[in-house]
Amino acid sequence: MTQDTLIVPVPDQGEGTRWWRDAVIYQVYVRSFADSGGDGVGDLPGVRSRLPYLAGLGVDALWLTPFYVSPMADFGYDVADYRDVDPLFGTLADARGLIADAHAHGLRIIVDVVPNHTSDRHAWFQAALAASPGSPERARYLFRDGRGPDGARPPNDWESVFGGPAWTRLPDGQWYLHLFAPEQPDLDWENPEVRAEFADILKFWLDLGADGFRVDVAHGMAKAPGLPDVGHADQVEMLGTAVLPYFDQDPVHDIHREWRRLLDSYGGERIAVAEAWAPTHERLADYTRPDELHQAFNFHYLTAPWEASGMRKVIEESLDAAGAVGAPATWVLSNHDVKRHVTRYGGGERGLRRARAAALLTLALPGSAYVYQGEELGLPEVLDLPAEFQQDPQRLRGEDAGRDGCRVPLPWEGEEPPFGFGGTASWLPIPTAWRDLTVAAQREDPDSMLALYHEALRLRHEHPALGDGGLRWLDGPTGTLVFVRETGGDGRLACAVNMSGRPARVPVRGTPLLASGPVHLENEHAELPPDTALWWDVEER
Ligand code: NOJ
Repeated sequence: MTQDTLIVPVPDQGEGTRWWRDAVIYQVYVRSFADSGGDGVGDLPGVRSRLPYLAGLGVDALWLTPFYVSPMADFGYDVADYRDVDPLFGTLADARGLIADAHAHGLRIIVDVVPNHTSDRHAWFQAALAASPGSPERARYLFRDGRGPDGARPPNDWESVFGGPAWTRLPDGQWYLHLFAPEQPDLDWENPEVRAEFADILKFWLDLGADGFRVDVAHGMAKAPGLPDVGHADQVEMLGTAVLPYFDQDPVHDIHREWRRLLDSYGGERIAVAEAWAPTHERLADYTRPDELHQAFNFHYLTAPWEASGMRKVIEESLDAAGAVGAPATWVLSNHDVKRHVTRYGGGERGLRRARAAALLTLALPGSAYVYQGEELGLPEVLDLPAEFQQDPQRLRGEDAGRDGCRVPLPWEGEEPPFGFGGTASWLPIPTAWRDLTVAAQREDPDSMLALYHEALRLRHEHPALGDGGLRWLDGPTGTLVFVRETGGDGRLACAVNMSGRPARVPVRGTPLLASGPVHLENEHAELPPDTALWWDVEER
């Protein structure tokens, strides 16, 4: 066994803990987390140096966005070598060291795997370009002849998620499919060589000690036979709301079943979470059937507006659908692909107030929760990034479609950008106004967002009713969500969220534990200001 394949033990919690059913998983967008090299780009040693912060915050696991060798056309989601680390982010030894240190801090590590497409610089695609139409090299991807007498029209009408046609033509006349950027050619998962290669890649990272995978575009690997037209333009509007011939096709589940068998063949309860956009809660839950992946991101929750009845419906449907297949529901408010929720919920004071209440709602719901780096600091979307800094390929879709604004590096400490991120200038500039939002500034302030997350996560670990389990709705005034969490054993916790624009009076029989804002308590009632949440220990009577 070489050093590269040394097995790093996972935290010793024994088998069968089903840790992932209620884990809080913190998303590290490596490029923007902490820079140890001084080049303005976050890296693995940077993450390693901040492990005490993450362990102290009280999360259970980290999901690291791709750090593999990549030309960075899509910031690492275009992988050129799946078994090595890009020099920008460090070395394989850094990855191994990070996994070992994280385990020593009691944190599990989930790495991102990108199976739908490779980089155009991947050795396989380079070989495909050098080979001729019909060759085995091209058969690993989706090369096709074009339509029309001279084949000058793309093979079908599919559109790239990033904008424009999903096909690019080569000088020899053939076209290749890329559901994302032209630098991200789609693999052909009907080719057994592709399946074998990815099984081997998964084993590589499992052997290195990874506790699981976040599966990029987990709904995309199987395409409808014959690659039929969609018959509509503006397909991006249909993503996640309709079944398209290139997304959420049933045969994709065979791949997930194969991966589950592989994960189960390892000890230590290794898991996989699907990034899958599916039109219904039920179709999403299909990815988490007992013989498939462990979790799927709940984008229905992420996209739900701040409004009580719609939010309640999403929560109920999510719990029902996940429960029907025996999977935990998951809850996510932000990630590196969407506008940060402080801004989505209205921005400014109001957005922040809602984000605070949303944190208590999210962490009280049954199942597993995701925290995107910086949400614990209440970071807003950066809406005024100078044009010369905007780099995201999704900008092709329109001026506002770029995702750079949610990827601005974290402010750690100090009075001036880059606020202890590392180096002298970060790859995206950090607003000077974030001086008050640094980790160091918020640590000093008991009313900060950081203090709220800290306390909520502490309670979540300690309170027997939080985490996995069921939920019972209680009556509450219009515009509020009120529910109780109970295990049947000791302890019940209730959560009330006022999502309306008016104060709401909610009966509270028990001991208040944590509030997202100023709550007035009197005569077994709480008066919740607009956009405010409260947790309390329910008194047994
Ligand atoms: C989803 C990732 O989260 C996103 O950042 C990426 O651009 C696409 N998949 C393509 O890999």
